[in-house]
Amino acid sequence: MLSRDVCLRLRSAFLDHNYSVDAVVDLIGEPAHRALGRNSTVAAVRAIGGRTDPLSVLTSLWPLQQPVDRAAVAQALPGLLEPLVAAELLATDGPLVRAMVDIRPYASDDGSTGWVVSDLSPGLDTVVSPIRPDFVLGVSPASTTLAQLTVRQPVGRALDLGTGCGVQSLHLARHADTVVATDLNPRAIELAGLTFALNQIDVDLRLGSMYEPVEGDLFDLIVTNPPYVMSPPQSDSERLTYREGEWAADGLVRHVVQRGADLLAAGGTLQVLANWAHLRGRDWADRLADWIRPTGCDALVIQRETLDPYEYIELWLTDAGLAGSSDYVQRYRQWLDYFERLDLEAIGMGWIVLHKTARATPQVQIEHWPYGIEQPIGPAIAAHRLAVELEQQLDDADLLATRWVIAEDVIEESVATPGSADPRHIIFRQQRGFRRAVEADTALAGILGACDGELSLGQIINTVAQILAVDGSALVAEVLPRVRMLVRDGFLAR
Ligand SMILES: C[S@@+](CC[C@H](N)C(=O)[O-])C[C@H]1O[C@@H](n2cnc3c(N)ncnc32)[C@H](O)[C@@H]1O
Repeated sequence: MLSRDVCLRLRSAFLDHNYSVDAVVDLIGEPAHRALGRNSTVAAVRAIGGRTDPLSVLTSLWPLQQPVDRAAVAQALPGLLEPLVAAELLATDGPLVRAMVDIRPYASDDGSTGWVVSDLSPGLDTVVSPIRPDFVLGVSPASTTLAQLTVRQPVGRALDLGTGCGVQSLHLARHADTVVATDLNPRAIELAGLTFALNQIDVDLRLGSMYEPVEGDLFDLIVTNPPYVMSPPQSDSERLTYREGEWAADGLVRHVVQRGADLLAAGGTLQVLANWAHLRGRDWADRLADWIRPTGCDALVIQRETLDPYEYIELWLTDAGLAGSSDYVQRYRQWLDYFERLDLEAIGMGWIVLHKTARATPQVQIEHWPYGIEQPIGPAIAAHRLAVELEQQLDDADLLATRWVIAEDVIEESVATPGSADPRHIIFRQQRGFRRAVEADTALAGILGACDGELSLGQIINTVAQILAVDGSALVAEVLPRVRMLVRDGFLAR
């Protein structure tokens, strides 16, 4: 572990040398930076071309994992080489120095910047190497997805469950008064501690499984990207802690959701990135609703993708560095046997958002929405919560009395057979947020088209009923449930 003084001096060196995402991109160029995102270092190493200025040295040492001349490192990090070697963050090898962990700059679209400490990226330049069970993952696409879906509003207490390299806490520290971060893996606690020290953020780090280290606490916001990978049972020494738990199938995700709800303060939010099982003969959305309803929380579940068992197994065997290894086929078979025992036919991947309300009947919305969305999606999730509050407060008479306005970002699309006078489909599509699309029949399209704030919904439905020569009360009964959904999903506002 580094002393506080060494951390501060390392931070100063990073600031002095502008060791930032933008500067690294400027140094190696956008295409080489994208290649690095694909785990390919060749373009970036070529761009640096053996330069020994401090920014080139830091970039070579950490993101590129290159051996660097000892004198150049000593010059870039004056007085720091020895303590970093003593702390096993760097290692010397004759005249060369190598990184033992990764320390790389971080920047996000919410303005979070800093440095993140994690284990070295495995599989650079396709080198196949098995991953150690206590491996601490760096910032991954899943980390970014969770950061983007988190609602960034000021909160009192926030929990980063399974902090890993600490990236979620970097974000939380910007809008939470207090941040608690937990992890089962002592190595993660150590590396996250370095991340927090380098960024000078105050995070209460606690070692332990799931919610055990925070039993009795309440939080306004809990975010987690837990180890949700559904892999065959393994011993503690074999299990990859960063992605696998000891629960069968998706039991860990159910635990995170159900137990997390208990730790939410009134009005609090739990945001989980997760995988869930599609079991043969059982509707996946009903299964998730069965987990969620007992919590008494409002919920928004978005399934972003589904994979069949083969796609899933191949994805995670490759992630573990096992593609090309001699036991790949045997592990593939084992995994398939496990899925057969579970009666699992597909895997859903997506987001679970719970919101603690005092409502008698919580609003649980579960949907498959694999289409393009606006990122970050957090503001749309916050807006959805407000829209649900509004819709739940209004009885049918209120809904009919309201002068609704169709949201500014909604466009209407008509799809017609060439030459035909009438459209085959009318679609109302959002341009922002979830970019949802709903199909409307002639009556609903007429009603939505007239929602400009002039007339109440009741007046509009009556007028449309007269034009179409249909019964007004029947049209009210047909349209109101859809209007409720359109209010919740942000198509209609007051
Ligand atoms: C996929 S990583 C997420 C890391 C980080 N939060 C992020 O967003 O990138 C999952 C983290 O959960 C931790 N973990 C695994 N099992 C756990 C458990 N039972 N309780 C708490 N944390 C656990 C792992 O050590 C790992 O750091």
